[in-house]
Amino acid sequence: MKTGKKATPTIIIIFGGTGDLAKRKLIPAFYNLFLDGWMPENFAIVGLGRTDLDDEKYTERLHEGLTAFSRNGTPAAEQWEIFKANVTYFQSDINNIDDYKKLAVQLDQLDEQWGIHANRLFYLSVAPQFIETVTTNINLSALATKPASDRIVIEKPFGYNKETAIALNNMLTSTFQEEQIYRIDHYLGKETVQNILAFRFANALFEPLWNRNYIDYVQITVAEQVGVEERGGYYEGSGALRDMIQNHLLQILCMVAMEAPVSFEAEEIRNRKVDVLRAVRRIKEEDVHRYAVRGQYNDGWIQGKKVPGYRKEGGVSPTSNTETYAAIKFYLDNWRWQGVPFYLRTGKRMQEKTSSITIQFRPVPHSTFPDNQSDSLMPNRLTINIQPQMDIRLRFMAKKTGLEMNLNPAEMIFDYDTCSTQTPEAYETLLLDAMRGDATLFMRSDQVEEAWDVIMPILEVWESRDSLDFPNYASGTWGPENAEALIARNGHVWALNLH
Ligand code: BG6
Repeated sequence: MKTGKKATPTIIIIFGGTGDLAKRKLIPAFYNLFLDGWMPENFAIVGLGRTDLDDEKYTERLHEGLTAFSRNGTPAAEQWEIFKANVTYFQSDINNIDDYKKLAVQLDQLDEQWGIHANRLFYLSVAPQFIETVTTNINLSALATKPASDRIVIEKPFGYNKETAIALNNMLTSTFQEEQIYRIDHYLGKETVQNILAFRFANALFEPLWNRNYIDYVQITVAEQVGVEERGGYYEGSGALRDMIQNHLLQILCMVAMEAPVSFEAEEIRNRKVDVLRAVRRIKEEDVHRYAVRGQYNDGWIQGKKVPGYRKEGGVSPTSNTETYAAIKFYLDNWRWQGVPFYLRTGKRMQEKTSSITIQFRPVPHSTFPDNQSDSLMPNRLTINIQPQMDIRLRFMAKKTGLEMNLNPAEMIFDYDTCSTQTPEAYETLLLDAMRGDATLFMRSDQVEEAWDVIMPILEVWESRDSLDFPNYASGTWGPENAEALIARNGHVWALNLH
């Protein structure tokens, strides 16, 4: 993990340059990096698309995107003019090799002008079925011939199951070396998620307690209030397990459960994370119903507004079997975590938008206090709130002020807002790392494959057996009742539902 270093001259080539991701996330991220002084002196952004546009019209569109989606709002005219001068549009057809060759000439000219072979960052913001065409054509037109400085960034989904993920990895590595491939999981770029590593490995206080001897259970919740929006067509073939658990939640699990890395080198961190995925106990097909609960949202109310059930969303089958909610109990078979349940859950149309990690410590072994006080004893709990609230809270018992020994839970809070008013977006962090050639926060092929391996049994059972009770939770609630039962069997409750 590198720090404080700007990237050397870089050309960013965005396949899908006229798409939603470029407008909402990529360009705002590059622009904010530019404002904060992180873009190299020499940089160029080339947006590729089929639409007939000139540079002016293209940058106008990007300007609208910035106004709507950037954390810094509408760009100031002067800054925008400087940034805009580095952005061009290249009309092209991703199937046409001649277009790639023309692009190669344009990129070579920039190299000549700058007197250096610039880094080339190929960002594939295209549907999965086009990845092979694009990478093959990049290869055939000799656009990326320098492994040390040419990189390719790809967005999830990384395959549709374990088999297709392996096929995708094989295809990518036939053109690029693994070090050149940057698989983005935007959760890893979130400030609060990165801070898990700082919290765990820059402090000696918690590490001795971070194991089965002191931790009772761990919960990871990523709850969203939104439904599937305009993405019904995509989501039908995905579901919560593929869309969120296979990537984002399992990555958070890795951060929480990994062993201390020897260094912050990309390979070391990624090795330790793969160790966690390898240790996750594979759930047997016949046990899936005891370890995993699926749900699908029905009509309901979100923030005082009536919202339709999943089966009524655009692009969704009226008899859909796709889950919009998943809760899973995992165990890790290693010395540190043997016997500690890790509860992961995610859902759309939930009561609150919140992502958080709960580390529940074991209760005190013996209560010294009078009976009436022992009942109020609550075990210590560490809560890491990822979003939208960003803080770390440690719950402990304290004496209530007064003449009697009465106990009350209290909290020590580290709140990000009190330390900084501007938090970089995940894409800013990740794109800067990709420009600098730091792959620490990106997914390596074996991580992706292991993560698929972890969820395959659940995926197979859910796909082969239709759920009989869908839709089984109202929008605006905490999901299906079975999810409470899933963890109640271990005597536990979901921490957030207690609000
Ligand atoms: C994406 C999923 O990867 O993450 C979406 O495809 C989901 O379905 C999104 O809404 C959540 O991201 P965030 O950053 O809003 O929590």
